[in-house]
Amino acid sequence: MTKQRADFTFRYNRGRGRYGWLRLTPAYSLKVVHQILAQLPKINHVLDPFAGSGTTGLVCAERGIPSTLIDINPFLVWFTRTKTVAYTAAQLEQVRNGAEQIVRSIAAQPPTDDLWYPPIRNIHRWWPEERRQVLAQIYHELRRQFPRPTPVKDLLLVAFCQLVIHWSNASFNHQSMSFKAEAVQPNLFATPQLMLQHFREMVQQLTATAEPRPRTPVHVVQADSRHAPPPAQPAYDCVITSPPYPNRMSYIRELRPYMYWLGYLKEAREAGELDWQAIGGTWGIATSRLNHWQPNGKRISYPGFKDMLSAIAAHSEILSKYVQRYFLDMLTHFQNLRSSLAGGARLYYIVGNSKFYDTLVPVEAIYAHLMQDAGFENVKIERLRKRNSKKELFEFLLSAQCPS
Ligand SMILES: C[S@@+](CC[C@H](N)C(=O)[O-])C[C@H]1O[C@@H](n2cnc3c(N)ncnc32)[C@H](O)[C@@H]1O
Repeated sequence: MTKQRADFTFRYNRGRGRYGWLRLTPAYSLKVVHQILAQLPKINHVLDPFAGSGTTGLVCAERGIPSTLIDINPFLVWFTRTKTVAYTAAQLEQVRNGAEQIVRSIAAQPPTDDLWYPPIRNIHRWWPEERRQVLAQIYHELRRQFPRPTPVKDLLLVAFCQLVIHWSNASFNHQSMSFKAEAVQPNLFATPQLMLQHFREMVQQLTATAEPRPRTPVHVVQADSRHAPPPAQPAYDCVITSPPYPNRMSYIRELRPYMYWLGYLKEAREAGELDWQAIGGTWGIATSRLNHWQPNGKRISYPGFKDMLSAIAAHSEILSKYVQRYFLDMLTHFQNLRSSLAGGARLYYIVGNSKFYDTLVPVEAIYAHLMQDAGFENVKIERLRKRNSKKELFEFLLSAQCPS
């Protein structure tokens, strides 16, 4: 029987140094990457074309393997860069001093009227007024003291993101982020003092966990993996990744509190635009755009694909288009990837199947077909873990090889 294996999910990363800095629910565990690398001969260059929070790159850096990571989301690219830098002792000291100065400045003066708040919808649902104000004060001070991007500022911003989510009403009981049922009760102690103290503690913890330095630099690129990855020397001889699943999960939606605070999103429309660029994105205008989207003659030759789309379309035309677009995007990815890889390169893709109404989408079998279609060999499917949502949903490890 296939088990749920929480140790193969983001849960395993919690509390494990840099891996636990921010939670990305669809992240996989560092253990998966270690297990894949442990069974391989010497690898020269790993590529992760859907890098998310950078788990692959951090494991590679710790093992001394050069890696290139690609993601389309600018916030995740910033975060992964920050997470994989080798900070000097002096920089970490500056981060701790910076936090002290921020806290001292805030304690010394009452909040001003001109504080900036992020234009996130229903901000009051996210943070009650008092908390919102402290967050705005910290952000204001942080930017005042560090006007330009530096590694020190980046680390302080990660601690700020931790605070943003910790003091929000966000709840993680579901696969996607939602709100806690009830507003959190006021504390016995004054909220501003508690939050400022918490910020200090988070910075202490962050700098302590940044201490062990990655052995190799990680190259992080913001790009669309439907296109070929940047040329590399040495050539990529291994791909380890977990692409988005066709399950209507929106990374922008998940990450919006951070993205609004840090200025990666300035208005709701932008969120939909970004999600439309992402494979499998489905938030806001990304969904309505599907109404007008056409496959333009491109097709998936997997047997039964058309029938599967028709079965979904019987319930929802738009979801059927969503699934079709998803797989065409992945086909484009595989086709453009091949010529950038070294002969004999190994590929490892972790992906989950999905279900729309009563139609199961055999994502793993369709991937195997797409990989073969794009010219990869020795394609294998291994069932990795059961997901806890519906009983027929699993995660799979697909492996394949580039012809020598
Ligand atoms: C399942 S997550 C990867 C999680 C990652 N393994 C980790 O441990 O954090 C998939 C990622 O693919 C990215 N993505 C979606 N469409 C993309 C595209 N066209 N090009 C590059 N990245 C894309 C999303 O932003 C998301 O971060």
